[in-house]
Amino acid sequence: MSVFQPDVVAFLCHWCSYEAADSAGRSQNSYPAGVNIIRVMCSGRVDPCHVLHAFQKGADGVVMMGCRPGECHYKTGNIQALKRHALLLSMLKTFGIGEDRLRLAWVAAGETDRLVRIFEDMTETLRQLGPLKHS
Ligand code: FES
Repeated sequence: MSVFQPDVVAFLCHWCSYEAADSAGRSQNSYPAGVNIIRVMCSGRVDPCHVLHAFQKGADGVVMMGCRPGECHYKTGNIQALKRHALLLSMLKTFGIGEDRLRLAWVAAGETDRLVRIFEDMTETLRQLGPLKHS
């Protein structure tokens, strides 16, 4: 019997979490194969439409990652991301998508292990939840 491999779309800020993912790749610190990374210049650049589109196109879960509070290169982008995350959680609820399927995290460029742990934890959570049913 095959193990369910969740599809995760991860929006990563170029300046921090994307660098951590790049570093993970260079050091062969692998993360689950179902994680599909999309690089954005800032977590504040992730529009709610991008997240909804990811779910619509078959993602079982979505991760938004940005610079730690106070470290956003564009000053307030991660605060914008925080607000959008809260908005998205309530929007997803109306579509019957549980809040465990969307995660927001702050990951600095040097936090490769933390990034891998977040991806592993998200994948395990989604594995427990099962595939997102699309109608
Ligand atoms: Fe990284 Fe804004 S530049 S979250």
